[in-house]
Amino acid sequence: MKKVLVATEKPFAAVAVNEIKKIIADAGYEFALLEKYTDAADLKKAVAKADALIIRSDIAGKEVIEAGKNLKIVVRAGAGYDNIDLAACTAKGVVAMNTPGQNSNAVAELALGMMVYIARGMFNGKAGTELRGKTLGIHAYGNVGWYVGEIAKGFGMKISAFDPFIPDEAISRNGIAVIKSLEELYTNNQYVSLNIPANEQTKKSIGYKLLSLMPKGATLVNTARKEIIDEPGLLEMFAKREDFKYVSDIAPDCAADIAAKYEGRFYFTPKKMGAQTAEANINAGIAAARQIVNFFEKGDRTFQVNK
Ligand code: 3PG
Repeated sequence: MKKVLVATEKPFAAVAVNEIKKIIADAGYEFALLEKYTDAADLKKAVAKADALIIRSDIAGKEVIEAGKNLKIVVRAGAGYDNIDLAACTAKGVVAMNTPGQNSNAVAELALGMMVYIARGMFNGKAGTELRGKTLGIHAYGNVGWYVGEIAKGFGMKISAFDPFIPDEAISRNGIAVIKSLEELYTNNQYVSLNIPANEQTKKSIGYKLLSLMPKGATLVNTARKEIIDEPGLLEMFAKREDFKYVSDIAPDCAADIAAKYEGRFYFTPKKMGAQTAEANINAGIAAARQIVNFFEKGDRTFQVNK
């Protein structure tokens, strides 16, 4: 009997776990659950007998992949798969997948939520500012970027997007202005929403050079990954631009430096919260479970990321 392990340091909502369990049981597979583990060794131990692994931001490094003696597939229930050692998967013949789009609305709602929160002085009782009429630049118009744009329309923002991997028409047909260069994106927008993945091209790519182009009232919104920020450049921006604010779904490594000097100009979630809704957990969890069943039963490799 095939064994499917759900290993989530940050657990799914209980309702999502039940849905996953049902799909696994209906397929005639065994279900195993490892939640809130504090030691990577626990994951290595649990994966030893699993044929399939479902994770979130959990680190599936070389050691974990190699510890999965029977492992054939690992599915990241979510978008970013920078936590999986793809080379280790490929070397061992393990298929790695993600579940694109399934948690995007949740992430986008958090982006707009954090924008309101910081614009209103984190609800400190003093007069804040509104989003209506402000400029918003969407840095990468993938699944999350699309939702950010749709929600921002309701706030009456002036929206533009930069994404060299997407045809202009896919952006403009949604009533969003197409921006042709990164410099222009940052120059034109008071709010920039980061929706890029963390990879070799994007890591440390957002620094002072780009941020300093932003107009007065600049707020950077990061629901992507902390690794895409050049932290010395971020600190320089905080120091040189008193109007600059930064909200991020997970604190940067330099959070203590920011907290010590720039009170009221930042907000960091205590744990990565973008996809932490019942709906996103259900969508991504069900998709992951179904992808595993379809892989085993039909050889379906849609959404494989280690080709
Ligand atoms: C993603 O890449 O899907 C999001 O960052 C969500 O990550 P999480 O599942 O760890 O909350």
